[in-house]
Amino acid sequence: MTANTLLRVKGITVQFGGLKAVDDVSFDVQQGELLGLIGPNGAGKTTLMRAITGVVTANSGSIHLGDQALTGLPTHQRIRRGLAFSQQLVRPFREISVLDNVALAAGSAHTRSPLKALLHTDSTRERDIARSMLERVGIAQHADQMPGIQPLGVLKRLEVARALAQEPKLLLLDEPLAGLNSREATTLADTIAQINRQGVTIILIEHNLGEVMRICQRLVVLDNGRNIANGPPREVMQQPQVRAAYLGAEKSADITEEQGA
Ligand SMILES: Nc1ncnc2c1ncn2[C@@H]1O[C@H](COP(=O)(O)OP(=O)(O)OP(=O)(O)O)[C@@H](O)[C@H]1O
Ligand SMILES: [Mg+2]
Repeated sequence: MTANTLLRVKGITVQFGGLKAVDDVSFDVQQGELLGLIGPNGAGKTTLMRAITGVVTANSGSIHLGDQALTGLPTHQRIRRGLAFSQQLVRPFREISVLDNVALAAGSAHTRSPLKALLHTDSTRERDIARSMLERVGIAQHADQMPGIQPLGVLKRLEVARALAQEPKLLLLDEPLAGLNSREATTLADTIAQINRQGVTIILIEHNLGEVMRICQRLVVLDNGRNIANGPPREVMQQPQVRAAYLGAEKSADITEEQGA
């Protein structure tokens, strides 16, 4: 660990019944980094992210953000200390505008009852933050529309804006590019790289390896819950155990397809 270390994950294990979804994983994230967290389906990426954010409780291990221990804290306390995350499945509040979805997130960083804050008090500050976050992710023109009519590309950006509105030190993104066409994926990847250059440290979980290789500075690879590689993207992708993990996943996908046919 150096003076520049923002997140330190040490020996995290998450067990679901007999399955170790995350198995003794350790890694650091440096201040200002854009780190890719990759691995085949079911490798444990989302579960590791949930352990970092406190959505699931790790069976063992420790998590530090700067010099603060996060281990054992509930999610809202971790958000207050500087974490924010976007989810693999986008689930905006359908009854309020795109802008208010982001304003609600801005409020949640400061109060335990953001909905109350938005409905009953002067929320100008939250709406100002929300508007600038929508601009930052390129969907300001949709601010006053309802989420229900938005295409996936806008909803994915809304999810990033919601997380950013909590003004995090560390932003965790779970498959922000999933479901987008290649042009949309490239422009959102550019936006993510730009947010990183503006000073936000990011952990990016993604299956789109082309975009991951293009924008990430370092990769951590999980397979069957274990951390099998950690290093510069090109070096990591050439390592035999990483190739084997992806090849194994392709083979089992082929088998599933054959069985389904
Ligand atoms: N709440 C849960 N209860 C039981 N098992 C779970 C739970 N969540 C995840 N798992 C299992 O843990 C393993 C890791 O799942 P996880 O969702 O973390 O993988 P992932 O790397 O995010 O995969 P993907 O790339 O498909 O999103 C899988 O075998 C999954 O079935
Ligand atoms: Mg996942």
